[in-house]
Amino acid sequence: MKFKDNHIISKKDFSREMIDHILNAAEKMEPIARGEQRSDLLSGKILAILFFEPSTRTRMSFETAMLRLGGDVLNLGSIDASSIAKGETLADTIRVVDGYVDAIVLRHPKEGAALLASEFSSVPILNAGDGAGQHPTQTLLDLYTIKRESHLEGLKIALAGDLKYGRTVHSLCYALSLYGAQITLISPKELRMPEEIINDITAKGAKITECDSIEEAISDVDVLYMTRIQKERFPDPAEYHKVANKLKITPETLKNAKQELKIMHPLPRVNEIDTRIDDTPHACYFKQAFYGVPVRMALLGLVLGAIE
Ligand code: NCD
Repeated sequence: MKFKDNHIISKKDFSREMIDHILNAAEKMEPIARGEQRSDLLSGKILAILFFEPSTRTRMSFETAMLRLGGDVLNLGSIDASSIAKGETLADTIRVVDGYVDAIVLRHPKEGAALLASEFSSVPILNAGDGAGQHPTQTLLDLYTIKRESHLEGLKIALAGDLKYGRTVHSLCYALSLYGAQITLISPKELRMPEEIINDITAKGAKITECDSIEEAISDVDVLYMTRIQKERFPDPAEYHKVANKLKITPETLKNAKQELKIMHPLPRVNEIDTRIDDTPHACYFKQAFYGVPVRMALLGLVLGAIE
């Protein structure tokens, strides 16, 4: 299996065997991620962080992953303070930065930006979200969380919220189809999962049902994956306000849930999960955010050729 020097652009690029390999490598990284063991695996390597959209977890967990493995990070910092403010194209920025570093993590508001960057880069590009497109490294940590906290085999999962603009659920759907998961899609009708993705994953053998209320689906699922309504991607703010508060979970929503139900969320949440759920055994979203560290450590180790 070859990861060294590979770009990580879309979840569609991964086989199940590749995903399992990354998840196993991540498990070995956990003690280092927790700071219980030291490592110099990536000593001498530099990772560039090029983020053209806000981020807390993705950016910081990539940075933590690199630092915990003895590597360094170079941050583009604010767009306004870089040459991008003078009108430099993404292609030119990439052609310059690839001479400074060993890999580039890119987050960009335009769908397809990571793919474009990969055409101009001589070092691996890791897509950390391209508009409403894909977010493959989030999917790896989502799968890792499911593996650690629930089970990937025979999984029944509901994806709820903004399935139209949410890139995490787009990538996750592709990966779940490789594991034969039963997927229930829950969204207001305006925010349905794009038809193209449903067709693609159904063709891969995924079992999909759609409904518009969490209560209807809750008793049957092992994992409920909530998402934020992606306000910034609505062409018309009035359309956002129509759907803004439609899907929320409270302790009452979970009345008929399985005892072992796990609730995940890529975060940030706005108001879709009542904070009273945070202290229940169902809540898994803060652990999920931590799991981003060992998973990104494994991924960096693999693409930089430090592990196999
Ligand atoms: C997500 C994103 O940026 O797509 N956040 C993340 O990476 N953890 C989800 C979101 O912004 O709603």
